[in-house]
Order: sequence, then structure tokens, then C-alpha cells
Amino acid sequence: MGVKLTKFAAREAGRPRFRHHHRWYRAPGPPLPLLGALTWTGALGSAHPAHLPLERGPTSTGPAVQAATPPMTSSPPRITPATVEARLQEIFIAAEGTALRKEDRKKSVEVAALLGEVARAGRRRLLVDAAAGKAYVGLLAAELLEAREVVLIERDASRVSACESAIPKLAGRPAVSVRQGDVGDHALWPADPDVVTALHACGEASDRVLDAAVRAQARWLFLVPCCYAGAVPFSATAEARLDALGVPRHAEVRRRLVMGLIDAERTLRLEAAGYETTVVPFVAPTVTPHNLLWRARRAGEARRMAEAAERLAALRADALPPRTPC
Ligand SMILES: C[S@@+](CC[C@H](N)C(=O)[O-])C[C@H]1O[C@@H](n2cnc3c(N)ncnc32)[C@H](O)[C@@H]1O
Repeated sequence: MGVKLTKFAAREAGRPRFRHHHRWYRAPGPPLPLLGALTWTGALGSAHPAHLPLERGPTSTGPAVQAATPPMTSSPPRITPATVEARLQEIFIAAEGTALRKEDRKKSVEVAALLGEVARAGRRRLLVDAAAGKAYVGLLAAELLEAREVVLIERDASRVSACESAIPKLAGRPAVSVRQGDVGDHALWPADPDVVTALHACGEASDRVLDAAVRAQARWLFLVPCCYAGAVPFSATAEARLDALGVPRHAEVRRRLVMGLIDAERTLRLEAAGYETTVVPFVAPTVTPHNLLWRARRAGEARRMAEAAERLAALRADALPPRTPC
């Protein structure tokens, strides 16, 4: 935890500050130049300069909603990268004289932006952090967003153990459990989660999280896919579609098209399952090249679902006429 100080003194100190359990704290150390370089207003303005005070978030809401899952709340608390850094320092590092690495500071920008999204989906939630890694998102949602219950799903034993060591250090003793295994294992998922997050779920893990969240009837899914490896289920079909179109084999040309088709298939899969989906860059590409967020809200609008199902079938089917060789 940083040094406790008054609201006025925090502003005067010119250092990142944050409010936690009704007290104001100053993040340890001087303002971090990297944060300035990484400032990004993004689609929602989620991340912002560390020196700015905590404040209420933007008042814009998502699209008009007349469905089971309510829209995003209009004025959630804003969580800054400085807040995230200070808590990660406390929870995972803590030892005197040690500091966050450059990649941890970049990660803080992502985590703050994603938590800003999650905050707008409402408070007191059952949240699943899937492909959690060290679960920065899930653990800080438990602490800073006061999630009612948090379930972390991760297959790697050493990361599970890092999560387990971190849980007792969370303020307020939130209800957090760790489940070790594959995100595709439905037995690991609680029923009806309010929010599912997956930050940088690698390759096919993104597809598994997507399907598992739909199956568990999650109200919200915040998915940030990572690498687009050949193991991604739709990649073979995407390659075949590009062949049928006559797209050349040049890797740099094909790679982006394959990624685009995989993105399209994932978007339509969510929409066909009843999720109103937006795809937005949630941080600057200088923070991470994998900066697209799938923000999906269970809406169950029949017309939208039918249209998406039709498009999905067309995308998946081998409906293109064979290419005439030149
Ligand atoms: C790139 S890391 C991201 C971790 C964390 N979400 C973050 O952003 O810091 C991906 C994590 O997903 C885990 N993972 C990958 N595939 C998985 C699967 N099928 N089931 C469970 N965990 C998986 C990996 O072990 C790794 O910890």
C-alpha cells in the first residue's frame, strides 16, 4: 500500500494517487514516465494519465437496451494504471527495493482499461477470470470493484500457486477461488456468471472461453484474444476460404486476412448466440499489438441472432465458387 495522505496533499504531491477503502493513498515512487507515454483515450477513454485524480467515468452508455442484461452503468469509478501498479506492487512484489518491471507497467495500463470496462457492467458481481495467469484482472476486480465472488480458471500450476499466494493479501478478504484446469472444461465454470473476463487468452483458449461463457449463460463477456495460432479452430477454414478467393501464399498478406476472418467468425458466433457484441481497441497498439476487446452483452434479440446465424453459416460454408485458374 502507498503512503496515506490527505486528498489535498495527494494532489500537491504530483504523484499518482488512488482511493481505497475510503482513504487516499499515493503510489510509491515518482510519477512513472512510461505511463505518460502509454496514455490512451481508447474507445472509452478507460486509461488516462496517472497524475489525474480519480474521478467518475464517462457518462456515455452502451446502445439502448430492452433485454435481460441491463446496459452498462453510466458513471462507474475510474481505475487508473497508477492504482493498478500500486496494488500489484503490494500484492505480488512487496519486498523492499523491488519494483515493477516495464512489462508489468504496460500490463497495468491494460488491466486498468479492462477493469474500467468491467466496472461499467455493475457492482457486486460473480466474475470469472478465465485463462487468468496471475489473475491481475480477477484479483483486482475482487478488491477494487468489490465483486461478490471471483472464480479464477488457469491450467498452469505455477500461476495457480501465484494466485493462491496473492489471495490472502487482498484487502477486504473478498471471496476468490482458483480452479486449475482447461478453460474448456465446463465443470470448472460456475453457472450464470455476471461477468467473464479473459485478457490475452492465447490462441484457441479464446474460442474455448467464448463457448464456455455462452454455455454458462454469462451476462457479460470481456474477451481480449492473443496470438492467432494454427490451433485456432477456424484457422483451417479461413485458409481454405482465402485459397478459394485466390489470395497469394505470401505470409504477411495472408496473416492479416486469416486474423480478420477469425475475428469475424468469433464476432458472429457471439451474436448468433444472443450476445450484442462490440469490438474495440481498448488500449493503444503501443501497449500491446493484441489490443482488440470483444465486449459482449447477453441480449437475446431474435432478429439480430438470426441475421448473425445466417452470416456465420455463409462464412463457414464452402459457398464460394471454385477459382478459375488464369
Ligand atoms: C498470455 S497469458 C495471460 C494471463 C492473464 N490473463 C494476463 O493477461 O496477465 C495466458 C494464460 O492463459 C493460460 N491458458 C492458456 N490456455 C489455457 C487453457 N486452455 N485453459 C486454461 N488456461 C489456459 C496460460 O497458462 C496463461 O497463464
